[in-house]
Amino acid sequence: MKVMSVFGTRPEAIKMAPLVRALQDDPDVESVLCVTAQHRQMLDQVLDLFELTPDYDLNIMQPNQTISMITANVLTGMEPVLQKEKPDVVLVHGDTSTTFVTALACFYQQIAVGHVEAGLRTYDKYSPFPEEMNRVLTGHIADIHFAPTERNRQNLLAESIADSKIAITGNTVIDALLQVAGKPYEFEDETLKTIDFEHKKVITVTCHRRENLGEYMAHIFSAIAEIAREFKDEVEVVYPVHLNPKVRAEADEFLKGIDNVHLIEPLTYQPFVNLMAKSYFILTDSGGMQEEAPALGKPVLVVRRETERPEAIEAGTAKLAGVEKQTIYAMAKELLTDRNAYDAMAHAVNPYGDGHACERIVAALKSRFGAGETC
Ligand code: UD1
Ligand code: UDP
Repeated sequence: MKVMSVFGTRPEAIKMAPLVRALQDDPDVESVLCVTAQHRQMLDQVLDLFELTPDYDLNIMQPNQTISMITANVLTGMEPVLQKEKPDVVLVHGDTSTTFVTALACFYQQIAVGHVEAGLRTYDKYSPFPEEMNRVLTGHIADIHFAPTERNRQNLLAESIADSKIAITGNTVIDALLQVAGKPYEFEDETLKTIDFEHKKVITVTCHRRENLGEYMAHIFSAIAEIAREFKDEVEVVYPVHLNPKVRAEADEFLKGIDNVHLIEPLTYQPFVNLMAKSYFILTDSGGMQEEAPALGKPVLVVRRETERPEAIEAGTAKLAGVEKQTIYAMAKELLTDRNAYDAMAHAVNPYGDGHACERIVAALKSRFGAGETC
């Protein structure tokens, strides 16, 4: 069975790395890895950590790229790779433009698609943008769906996707997390080395979503600035800033120059997981961190208008804080000042899997494609 894995951004790489390793280790599988490099530096950080060498690298990233640029470059870049390799199945992950466009390129070549992290939905076409439509369209091209949770399976069934094509696997992010968390680690980053994690309440922040750029990010960053100033003796904010120049400009405008706000470069996954584990709480618009934080027992304030990951909210570790300054400020302040409110959120639960998602995906692939079956 020839399986080609394709990804392009940091979160896809983190969540696909343990799966690619599992495929490579399986004697019945010929594993081919193709990266689009929709992200360059942030992708390479993950490839280095998991010691993965791509067989193909489309190297498409351009500064300030538009969604159309990504779409055109992935579509034309994938065509010759698919024609040459003719895999039995191509695995794509989640909801980025690399994901959807690779699925589309496979459809044009009549090559089967497996969708990892299938079935997440907000039912809001423009939020997250363009991710909601990317995953809906990928779901309707895919031939086999690896749903992290039962709710994700139900979402697919509601769209008339056949139950026989869905496997509930857990999320591969837990496989990745367990591979790096728990290993002894000392920070090498100069800023992190100076932070007093024992006596200070550290808030880890990330923010990058396209629909938050502009007005909403101004609200989010203003709330963080106000919290940092009000709690200047107790709180340190650590924000590894995404390499998107638009995000960096806005983060600089609102947060630069505040003594206890540390704007640092994106961290590789191992230091980042350790930073989350040592933090008091997390404030983010990231998808993946809503899955990692509950497993680490860290409260998360989700700075978005909706989430496709309600399991973390139901489990009690995540709260939807929205994108309005006063609400975000009030929710962050409550976590800092109300021990009961904090303790109610700070417990380790894991609605996203047991760390064996990759094994289940490989087993499902073998039973579906192992005997030479295609689309
Ligand atoms: C992309 C995905 C989003 C995902 C996010 C994870 C799309 C449309 N968006 O959003 O779903 O949640 O990745 O982070 O698929 N840049 C660099 N180096 C890097 C990475 C990015 O310089 O390693 C800069 C470039 O100028 C690039 C810009 O960031 O043009 C934006 O990257 P892009 O992939 O278009 O969008 P993201 O917001 O990162
Ligand atoms: N992450 C990382 N270094 C950082 C910030 C985040 O390794 O400096 C990890 C984080 O643990 C999570 C993933 O990157 O697994 C999230 O990526 P991102 O926020 O870019 O995308 P999203 O999760 O929103 O798709």
